[in-house]
Amino acid sequence: MAYPTPDSLRSRLKRPISSITAYDYPAARLCDEAGVQMILVGDSLGMMVAGMEDTTEVTLDQMIYHTEIVRRGVKTAVLVSDLPINTYCNAEETVVSATRLMEAGADAVKLEGGFRQLEKIEALVEAGIACCAHLGMLPQRVREEGGYKKKGKKDGEAETLIAAAMALEETGAFAIVLESMVADVATKITKKLSIPTIGIGAGDHCDGQIRVLHDVIGGYPWFVPPFAKVYGNVAETTRSSVEQYIGDIEADLQDD
Ligand code: KIV
Repeated sequence: MAYPTPDSLRSRLKRPISSITAYDYPAARLCDEAGVQMILVGDSLGMMVAGMEDTTEVTLDQMIYHTEIVRRGVKTAVLVSDLPINTYCNAEETVVSATRLMEAGADAVKLEGGFRQLEKIEALVEAGIACCAHLGMLPQRVREEGGYKKKGKKDGEAETLIAAAMALEETGAFAIVLESMVADVATKITKKLSIPTIGIGAGDHCDGQIRVLHDVIGGYPWFVPPFAKVYGNVAETTRSSVEQYIGDIEADLQDD
């Protein structure tokens, strides 16, 4: 089966690129109808949908299910799906896992990491599967790293990030997410690369931005990352709508 090529996906992403996560049909359809250019079925669904502590317990089967239901809501946006942790340990496994996400409806897959992922991206390119890279703070390594730490601050870190970004482009990534990175480093990477950079907590000078849907709509009040700008209050609307509904049921009971 022929999948979308990196060039065809890139031609659908116009700077400034708007990108957001979605995990189900109504959210995907609303984001697509709003005109967002790229929708990510992020493994952040572990926290946002499943109430997990982080992304490290998300499985490939869960990603496949969410990719299928998001696909039904997306007509126009580029649909990217995350390869979850422990599903791309070597080149062969990467292609097998990515193929399952593509069969579920993804246009491309995303994986986390720099130099250690080059061989896997090469295998994806060979298999005709477009790949979005992800550099900076890598949520799948949060346990190893002991927390979510901004990248590019320590000596030598900036140079390594820039060199890794260049290698990812050279290997064939069609775009790259830069997460939680010193803004100046993200700007340097953006200037050096010809593929688009899509930032989250990486300053204002990437080619585009990506956010977690629940942060944008105010749908997850228990944790809001410091860089998030919250535009709505879905949590409060849900809570007060359900309270009113309960109130009506109780009032009806008293009328009987
Ligand atoms: O899983 C996710 O939501 C992500 C974005 C934060 C980039 O990878």
